Amino acid sequence: MSTKVSLQRTLGLSLTIGIIVLWLLGVAAAGLVARYKMNDVFDSALEETAQRILPLAVTEILNRENDTGPQRAPMLKAHDEYLTYLVRKPSGEILLQSHDVEPELFSPLPREGFSDTATHRFYGASAVSGTIYIEVAEPLAHRRAAVLETSLALLIPLLLLIPVSLLGVWWLIRRSLRRVVMLQQSIEARGGGDLSSVYVARLPQEFEPVVNAVNHLLERLRRTLEAERSFTANSAHELRTPLASALAKLQRLQAKTQDEQVRVQAEEIEGSLRTLARLSEKLLELAKAEGGSALAENDTDLVPILRMIVSDYQHKASGHLKLDVPDTPVMSLLDSDAFAILIRNLIDNALKHGARQQPITISLTDKGVLRVVNAGEVVPPEKLALVRRRFVRSDTKSLGSGIGLAIVDAIASGAGIELSLRSPASGQRDGFEAELNIVVTRTDS
Ligand SMILES: Nc1ncnc2c1ncn2[C@@H]1O[C@H](COP(=O)(O)OP(=O)(O)OP(=O)(O)O)[C@@H](O)[C@H]1O
Ligand SMILES: [Mg+2]
Repeated sequence: MSTKVSLQRTLGLSLTIGIIVLWLLGVAAAGLVARYKMNDVFDSALEETAQRILPLAVTEILNRENDTGPQRAPMLKAHDEYLTYLVRKPSGEILLQSHDVEPELFSPLPREGFSDTATHRFYGASAVSGTIYIEVAEPLAHRRAAVLETSLALLIPLLLLIPVSLLGVWWLIRRSLRRVVMLQQSIEARGGGDLSSVYVARLPQEFEPVVNAVNHLLERLRRTLEAERSFTANSAHELRTPLASALAKLQRLQAKTQDEQVRVQAEEIEGSLRTLARLSEKLLELAKAEGGSALAENDTDLVPILRMIVSDYQHKASGHLKLDVPDTPVMSLLDSDAFAILIRNLIDNALKHGARQQPITISLTDKGVLRVVNAGEVVPPEKLALVRRRFVRSDTKSLGSGIGLAIVDAIASGAGIELSLRSPASGQRDGFEAELNIVVTRTDS
């Protein structure tokens, strides 16, 4: 199960739930206030009704010619009666009643003022020195329904509010996180060739410590790498002169000696010194490749450079090298010295690790795709994945230190080029193939 939490999801859900809960609390509070205020209004209406009916009822009762007993007020038009009333004597005897009244709801003896039962609210008033009472009853259900309707009306906007708030929060967070995604991409783009400070305009303030920490780390990394590169470059450079002078002295010794054994030993030492010299040259190349950007100010045609290097090798490798280049120029910003180092390393490898007497094909298309293909044993995939690292070798039979492909990779990544290594070579059952597109163009306008 993933333990990662989506900020967008968490904030979206919790803010929406928060809004719903607050709204419900608001509706409940509004319902309570509405009930309180409505009760006031209903009570006042109840009292007013009693005060209005009482004088009319008294006049009607006093004008009766004889005691005609309880009478029901005539209904002028069919309607539901919300307010019902009884006009009674203090003894409880009914003198007049509204047409829908249920007398059993009222207390046996009339009372003045407000009173409640479980279902009704009453208001009583008296006239003619307390000899005639009127009581008006109102069902409580009527009041409850009014409060409920008001509260429900307040709940309806919530149905709209939930999707709107979910969408709003989602959109807002997405908008705010856009800058964070830019920050992530900017950090991701950094590599050995680019360790410049990360900067994203209008980044949320909360991410400033992260940017500061990343820049701090990049600065330390830059200093460490610079120290490492300058150490490698300086050591390789310093080794050149003593190595050259040791070789010269050894050759003088070989020329002078008549002793066959000394000559053989001197040859072995010479071999070791040459390996050491090659290693120091390669280390210098690697330090340069890793330190620079491998791009030139202006673009150059790389075809003549490739032709020259290959013909140079053709003299040494007695016609094994096949060159296939376009007639049109292949212009690139790739530095010509860097390109020469890159192609030399690839050809060296093909000559050294490829099958002897088998042709080596070097091809460049007009689109700039450069391929160096040789026959030979397949490099196992797990090794192939590692050979571009420094000092990693798959073939231990040939001489070498495992730096060639690291140099090629450093030049390629310094120029923003992708290097692909394949074994077996494409379309074949064995061999090795190195492929890269050497056309680099200016990306800024
Ligand atoms: N053209 C090739 N054909 C077969 N194997 C290759 C080829 N190029 C590279 N490899 C394998 O990749 C390994 C690494 O190559 P890399 O050029 O880095 O080192 P190297 O050639 O062994 O030594 P160096 O280049 O430092 O003299 C080699 O040891 C070899 O096993
Ligand atoms: Mg090599």
